Amino acid sequence: MDAANHMAVGQKTEHLEPDLDRVAKANLKELGDIRIDDVLAFIDRGIENMPSYMDLYRRWESQQWSVGDLDFTLDREDWLKASDLDRKATLWSHRLFFNGEERVTATLAPFVWAAPTPEIEIFLSTQMVDEARHTVFFDRWWREVVGTDSKNLKDLLAEIRPDTNEGYNTLFYDRLPSTAQRMASNPKDFDAFVEGVTIYHIIVEATIALTGQRFELESMRELGTTDRGFYRGFTAVARDESRHVSFGIKVLQEAVRENPERFAPLIQRTLVECLPLVAGTLDPPDPAYITEFGHTESEILQFAMDSLNKRLRAIGINLAA
Ligand SMILES: [Fe+2]
Ligand SMILES: [Fe+2]
Repeated sequence: MDAANHMAVGQKTEHLEPDLDRVAKANLKELGDIRIDDVLAFIDRGIENMPSYMDLYRRWESQQWSVGDLDFTLDREDWLKASDLDRKATLWSHRLFFNGEERVTATLAPFVWAAPTPEIEIFLSTQMVDEARHTVFFDRWWREVVGTDSKNLKDLLAEIRPDTNEGYNTLFYDRLPSTAQRMASNPKDFDAFVEGVTIYHIIVEATIALTGQRFELESMRELGTTDRGFYRGFTAVARDESRHVSFGIKVLQEAVRENPERFAPLIQRTLVECLPLVAGTLDPPDPAYITEFGHTESEILQFAMDSLNKRLRAIGINLAA
């Protein structure tokens, strides 16, 4: 595969196994027939199958989708019939996601500026568009399914801002923006770039977001609601996230290979600092928000930690050291 990494931009199409190829090419309607675990399989392909940055760029070109193509009619009908507890649980989770998507849109630009190569800069530019689209996806879902009097996105974000947990606040309002600020102040600060990718791509996306998405989409599958606009759109979001996480693994893997003494401890220290924030973010104000859907908090945390450990193996480090 190494030769492929050195080919000119746009020259080579990535070869995918048939199962992955189906997920890679699915349109919004077809995504209703796809399981989240099959989407996550993209990230688990193993080091020998790591995509190049330009492979990830080309996946982005062919995996475009539009929030405007989704239909939330059935979602709205479900919402009107939902129990009070179901609504509270969904609102808790979607506040975290909606606000989180806006926060990661707002803080990605300094990463583009600090990108060490043009290929990385190009990939990160595609990611910025993705995060904006994810924010718009939640804006539309909120307006059409839940309903709101907020006139614009700023007011709606103020209305939905999660106020339930400190871990979330520390991650999204302290760690992420302060690392982005270091890159903005000095785009040549590669340590800040590595720390930023660890927080953004590995902690926020690979460990928190994909875990939350996985359990919510699986619950919808068990309920037989995979033809809803939310299921299709959220699966498209997860497919986008699988590209982002593959990118993050690749960046950190290359940094660790290039200079293990410098970067392995930096990544490990960042992870150790952020792990309590992961547990805090995934902890609902009422345990019934999770048990109502047939899951337990420890099961969700275990999945998050297993996902994290898989990513760390691919990067070439572990947490114990
Ligand atoms: Fe996102
Ligand atoms: Fe993302």
